[in-house]
Amino acid sequence: MVEPPSGPLQRPLPDGTVPERVVVRTEGRWLTIMVVMLVTMMVIMVVTSFVGALHPASNVEVIDSRTLHLKGEFVESNLGTALEPDGSATVRLIAQQYDFVPRCIVVPAQVPVRFRLTSDDVIHGFLLPNTNINTMVVPGFVAEVRTRFSRPGDYVMPCHEYCGLGHQAMWAQVRVVPWEQFAHRGLLERTSCAAQ
Ligand code: CUA
Repeated sequence: MVEPPSGPLQRPLPDGTVPERVVVRTEGRWLTIMVVMLVTMMVIMVVTSFVGALHPASNVEVIDSRTLHLKGEFVESNLGTALEPDGSATVRLIAQQYDFVPRCIVVPAQVPVRFRLTSDDVIHGFLLPNTNINTMVVPGFVAEVRTRFSRPGDYVMPCHEYCGLGHQAMWAQVRVVPWEQFAHRGLLERTSCAAQ
């Protein structure tokens, strides 16, 4: 009486037996393909993190979300775009269900722009397509991200973190204008689309 083959690799298949060395060789090829893909994706991640300045926010800054509107940096009169003495711009925004405040902001092109955001209710997301900006906005923390817009234009900024029933309608807009349109502004002036 013939003993049935013990290893699953030696069991005959309906069309015949696949020899173990063939299986080993095929698995080896797949393993090589997987390793090459993994290494390629790792290289892409490392290169784009340097070239495109894509990396996790390094900013850890806490804020009391219960008093956002009453005092401190995120009072309403301080929201929008502010020019810094060095010519760069700082944008302050509040994310809340289901809107960004202000809803539309104006920023100058070709200078460094720093976004500072916080939330006064739940976790929101802040994404500017075609830029390196992509962050979560967590209540109790200030999210800070930096970029530079190379040319004027309108950018949409969707909330990309599910925040409730109105999440899909939570959009805002960034209007990038030539630097000259900003040059005459005072340092204390805040800008949003409504002021245009
Ligand atoms: Cu805010 Cu989704």
